[in-house]
Amino acid sequence: MRRCIGDPSGPVIEVRDLAKSFDGRLVLDGINFSVCRGSVFSIMGGSGCGKTTLLRHLIGIIRPDSGQVLVNGADITKFGEAEMEGYRKSFGMLFQMGALMNSLSVRDNIALPLREHTQLDEKIIGVIVKMKLELVGLRDFEHLRPSQLSGGMQKRVALARAIALDPEIVFYDEPTSGLDPVVTGVIGQLIHDLSSRIGITSVVVTHDVKSAFQISDRMIVLYRGKVIAEGTPGDIQNSGDPLVRQFIEGRPDGPIPLRQSSRDYLEDLLDME
Ligand SMILES: Nc1ncnc2c1ncn2[C@@H]1O[C@H](COP(=O)(O)OP(=O)(O)O)[C@@H](O)[C@H]1O
Ligand SMILES: [Mg+2]
Repeated sequence: MRRCIGDPSGPVIEVRDLAKSFDGRLVLDGINFSVCRGSVFSIMGGSGCGKTTLLRHLIGIIRPDSGQVLVNGADITKFGEAEMEGYRKSFGMLFQMGALMNSLSVRDNIALPLREHTQLDEKIIGVIVKMKLELVGLRDFEHLRPSQLSGGMQKRVALARAIALDPEIVFYDEPTSGLDPVVTGVIGQLIHDLSSRIGITSVVVTHDVKSAFQISDRMIVLYRGKVIAEGTPGDIQNSGDPLVRQFIEGRPDGPIPLRQSSRDYLEDLLDME
């Protein structure tokens, strides 16, 4: 297992031999990797390869069939309800549908987790909201409603909300999907800055190869529930593996089949109700 250089406390997240099946179909097949403190770590792969399922294991929504997810050395797959609740408060999340509440202002959306999980005075909450908005470059927009903002700005507000409670780790699921290339660049830069400037560990699930190469310190490529490549963006770009090359070059022809179904076609037809 790779050690995190210069960090005696070891990796923030360490996944060991993680496996999960749904309905007898293996979706995660012996996953191993570790994430260093304060780094940007990307989980890449085509759609359906198991990225979101892996992320759900990291945030404790799903328990594996076997294997471990160590966060700061503690195996979260063994956590009881109370421990899990404590764990969930310790990280931020930015999901594909970064559901902001439209009935609330930008300010109140970001204040929500602070009001829910702390006893801080409203004045302090106001200061924190301003600081978080400054970090995502939207300090002048606190009184608007999310629907009055562009898609990219909404993502930034959702990011400000994700870091409201000063999490050690932020998990992202496809943070740039549906955004234009310029806004994708802005969100990528923000993710990168949160790690390099304030030491947040970022775990980014994405199929956006270009943006992952720009922002990541290290990355893995998943294919059919297995890690087929691991390393720095340079390592992955220089990979000689035809599966990895097809994925990063986005070519339709290559070893990755067009048909994704793992079930036998005839078996599937005969199984129809
Ligand atoms: N709760 C579930 N029950 C059954 N199958 C699931 C469930 N969640 C995910 N899957 C299947 O696992 C595979 C991987 O899904 P997912 O992790 O969402 O992929 P990705 O995020 O890489 O697109 C898909 O084939 C999906 O249909
Ligand atoms: Mg997904």
